[in-house]
Amino acid sequence: MSRLFITLTILAFLVHAIAPLPARGAEEEFNYDESKVGAYTLPDPLVMQDGTPVTTPMQWHDKRRPELLALFENQVYGHRPPKPTALRFDTESTDDSAVDGRATRKQVRIHGLGGAGDNAAIVLTLYAPNDADGRVPAFVGMHLFDASAAMPVPGKPLEVPVAEKLPGAKLLEVILDRGYAIGTLTAADFCPDDAARFREGVLQQLYPDQTGPPGPEQPGAIATWAWALSRALDYLGTDKAIDPTRVAVIGHSRMGKTALWAGAEDQRFALVISNNSGCGGAALSRRNFGETVARINRAFPHWFCGNFKQYNDRESELPVDQHELVALSAPRPVYVASAVDDGWADPRGEFLAAAGADAVYKLLGVPGLDVTDQPETGKVVGQQIGYHLRVGKHALTDYDWLRYLDFADRHPKPAK
Ligand code: GCU
Repeated sequence: MSRLFITLTILAFLVHAIAPLPARGAEEEFNYDESKVGAYTLPDPLVMQDGTPVTTPMQWHDKRRPELLALFENQVYGHRPPKPTALRFDTESTDDSAVDGRATRKQVRIHGLGGAGDNAAIVLTLYAPNDADGRVPAFVGMHLFDASAAMPVPGKPLEVPVAEKLPGAKLLEVILDRGYAIGTLTAADFCPDDAARFREGVLQQLYPDQTGPPGPEQPGAIATWAWALSRALDYLGTDKAIDPTRVAVIGHSRMGKTALWAGAEDQRFALVISNNSGCGGAALSRRNFGETVARINRAFPHWFCGNFKQYNDRESELPVDQHELVALSAPRPVYVASAVDDGWADPRGEFLAAAGADAVYKLLGVPGLDVTDQPETGKVVGQQIGYHLRVGKHALTDYDWLRYLDFADRHPKPAK
């Protein structure tokens, strides 16, 4: 073998070894090259569809916010199911010696969701600290932890070493010790995350004549999960341990999309957290980087409303973009977080959506993100809009949770 051949073979191996790993779902057609993103023009959150500029907080609240919400309902997520009029809460179990006596664990079945029959229920699993002085703030989300685990871990230990000490598997204890309750819902209870089965459960009960993927403006799974989070909040308003004016809605990835949409639709959520929510969440749809609208609609036809499919490969025709979803949290605190090795979710697109919401916060008189450049890895930026980019992969980690706890601590609202 010639020396040249050996050198070329080693070179080829090295090039292959150091090439970025294809991200989740990545195939040839997806772009991971910033220089190939292409030009795009974002819709202005402060200009009405008819071209009228929005210059006062009152115009935002009375005109532009409802207009944007309706556009997201009609074109992206679908209209949420109706608000139930006769909800019932059954506490199925209570254990006040959970987490080594630190917490009370409750499982609450939420019935009376409406529609024909009453055969679907949402089950909330809640851990609340025992030594609280009054009502506590809470985090609630979909799939935040395994509700069946004896000692759940609500975030993965970060796999990349960092200088600070992280709680790892003790994350639940840290959240409780810092004075927060945490509750989770599980999709399978009421709207399974499966294109063939998503109607089984509450959607079948509410829309008994419908089959197949969501109709043009019908709720997809994301809208249904977000609506269920509002029902969990309905329950939390009746639980003496919880301060319902300080409930944060939080989610990772598909459930991060859900958290943003829940916060947009239900302004009772006091704080909104999107962890690596990507396409259809915080990432701008118009940026050609990582997952695309066409791919998400193809792979997950049950997530969004039927109308969203019109925008496959035609993102520029969308009447909204995802910075306006972030803006629908305004003026409440909202946090968007990205991970470096999560190209599929487009970390830069997530940052730009947070930045694109800033003008709305400013109009409402509160400090928003306060920076225009994506911060370096590991740096937290922003005031009422928070953002960080961390090392590592697509995951909700203990590192992220510590940032969210600090953010929630910075935004206290007095208990009533
Ligand atoms: C897939 C999907 C993403 C989603 C992710 C997740 O990768 O393409 O949009 O965020 O699953 O929920 O983990």
